[in-house]
Amino acid sequence: MERQLKLGLCAAALLAALPGLAMAAPKGSAQPWMNPKLGPDRRADLVLEKLSLDQQLALLHGEMPMFMGARKPAGVSISAGYLPGLPAMGIPPLTESDASLGVANAGRKDDDAAALPSGLALAATWDPKTAYAGGAMIGKEARQKGFNTLLAGGVNLLRDPRNGRNFEYLGEDPLLAGVMDGAAIRGIQSNHIVSTAKHYALNDQETGRMVADARIDEAALRESDLLAFEIAIEQGHPGSVMCAYNRVNGVYACENPFLLTDVLRTDWKYPGWVMSDWGAVHGVAAAKAGLDQESGQQLDKQVFFGAPLKTAVAAGEVSPARIHEMAHRYLRSLFAAGAVDHPVVAGGLDTAADSLVAQREAEQAIVLLKNGSPGTADQGILPLAKTARRIAVIGGHADIGVISGGGSSQVIPLGSKTFPKPAGAPQWGGGQVYHPSAPLAAIKARAAGAEVSFDEGADLARAAALAKSADVAVVFATQWSTEGMDIAARLDGEQDALIAAVAKANPTTVVVLETAGPVAMPWRSQVGAILEAWYPGGRGGEAIARVLFGEVNPKGRLPVTFPASEAQFARPVLPGADQHIVETLTPSAPKPFEVRYAEGSDVGYRAFAKSGQRPLYPFGHGLSYTAFRYSGLRVAGGKTLAASFTVTNTGSRAGVDTPQVYLTAAPRRKQQRLVGWSKVTLKPGESRQVRVTAPQRMLADWDGKAHGWRLDGGTYDVAVGPDAATPALKGSATVAAAVLKP
Ligand code: BGC
Repeated sequence: MERQLKLGLCAAALLAALPGLAMAAPKGSAQPWMNPKLGPDRRADLVLEKLSLDQQLALLHGEMPMFMGARKPAGVSISAGYLPGLPAMGIPPLTESDASLGVANAGRKDDDAAALPSGLALAATWDPKTAYAGGAMIGKEARQKGFNTLLAGGVNLLRDPRNGRNFEYLGEDPLLAGVMDGAAIRGIQSNHIVSTAKHYALNDQETGRMVADARIDEAALRESDLLAFEIAIEQGHPGSVMCAYNRVNGVYACENPFLLTDVLRTDWKYPGWVMSDWGAVHGVAAAKAGLDQESGQQLDKQVFFGAPLKTAVAAGEVSPARIHEMAHRYLRSLFAAGAVDHPVVAGGLDTAADSLVAQREAEQAIVLLKNGSPGTADQGILPLAKTARRIAVIGGHADIGVISGGGSSQVIPLGSKTFPKPAGAPQWGGGQVYHPSAPLAAIKARAAGAEVSFDEGADLARAAALAKSADVAVVFATQWSTEGMDIAARLDGEQDALIAAVAKANPTTVVVLETAGPVAMPWRSQVGAILEAWYPGGRGGEAIARVLFGEVNPKGRLPVTFPASEAQFARPVLPGADQHIVETLTPSAPKPFEVRYAEGSDVGYRAFAKSGQRPLYPFGHGLSYTAFRYSGLRVAGGKTLAASFTVTNTGSRAGVDTPQVYLTAAPRRKQQRLVGWSKVTLKPGESRQVRVTAPQRMLADWDGKAHGWRLDGGTYDVAVGPDAATPALKGSATVAAAVLKP
């Protein structure tokens, strides 16, 4: 009970922020470990030479400041985590903030922060530069708020549209998710602070996350969820990896030797430290398995990495060398990130400027799913005609702001408005937070001369009457999601009926979706246009309006398949749903259960390609106000594949296209895989030659016997297209046999 209460408090960050924290400047450069030329490993060892076992152990478990009472040092912010440094030695404390989508500040009064769009929105940009820019921005804000470690980099694959944390993650494809995560982490760490990658691994649903046992075979795991982490870690070099709450193949992720030691350390040669998720440690066995640091120690049944770990060392169960190694990994990451040489100094926050980074991201991320009038395929009703005299804006609290996701990642810019959360939501955490960027105001600002009316959408007949009286109706529709529970893959409440009623009254209806992820669209054929705006962040209203009016030509592409029905989900019935688990202050004790990932690495579009089923919208889909044509595919073989082709803008506006290259068959396997993409900006009539080279590993299968990635020599088939279901061009080439060591 107490633990659950604390867990709730953790993620909700209920207490007020203290003034920023200026950390101790590094002490005298005479100390040999302060010499940057020595490299992080040597520097860590030099520090460790001076530390007793007790001092080393003290680096291995961190606290939640809100539970420290009088022990909390002045100036330490109430946030996710804190661990004292070694001030006399110039080693700063560890000051951790949640940061999936900005520097989380739920419940901290008068604390401002810039809110990025959701992770799925970021993935919809397919643009690593945008990921880097967002990371760099929140890393800067972290420094300005006194944090040197961001609990960011969520890269769990989207295996189920109902996962309540999909909005923090980067979609269903390991290459896209890994590349985007790596870039975001690089951006964060460019500020000389640490970023995590999390939650390692297979925390792919929230229902029963503390007990669920994710079951999957090794090859499939390596080719899917682990591959996303592997790419993110290779490209982002996060200082830390956070292990997950759930079990993987029977063993808790945070005490799983296969995950933490065999794969992460031995195969991937990851040099950083593994921190636990908050409340995810179950005993000192975790230290033996490869966990280096217990986070949020007050949430565990005991501070396992305190006295019990010391006892285990005294009893010879854990070697002093292992303790040294754990502390080494932690310290070397602080050195490697620059957190020691550039201690954070709070101050200088400029959220107005930072929010423009969020707006640019949203503008890249919004996906035009449909643009036509009912009955006509190509005559789009978007962008909104300058001639529209009467515009009806309906629903979604569009007069107030844009919705955001709840839980530990919650960012609340000043001026946000909170509505009550639905029954059944975790008892901890806040309500439904709307970021203060009202689409209605942004539309009005652009609709000079037009009459823009708003109806909140509660009364269907009234909303329909307003729509009928207008030239165009723009309906805003939302789906709230939060850490700690899963959701239905549909719009909240009665919004489907609202859209149907509005569209019936006026077929020139545009639906703007602010959803966590894929939703059902029973009204799809009745409306003229659909924009997926995701959770668009702290300037989301502006971004949406700019797309609606054509100031921005839509360029987002779906990072996830939108299924046509729940029957198309990998698991139509959500595992654990029968237990009605709600993360409350009076918890039900969920019984352990298995989540069988029988689809293996056939996640999302790959499963659709295999079964031949048609989704509502395929992975990669996204329209533009112009049109593109692909021609002249040449595929070169050799060690890997390279596809060259021409993209032409055949429309009358400048636009950005994202041609995608899929592997469709290999010598012994038929599985569709995204192996690369490009982003091309083209003026009307302009053509460009594009060359996309597949990373060799993306063509390979994990071979357990060879303990490596095996490419069979032979013919590899490729499709180039605007999405996973439209092979506009096809080709093939011969690739040489190889085994790549992990
Ligand atoms: C979440 C993590 C988060 C941690 C600290 C946990 O409940 O799963 O993502 O970083 O809390 O707030």
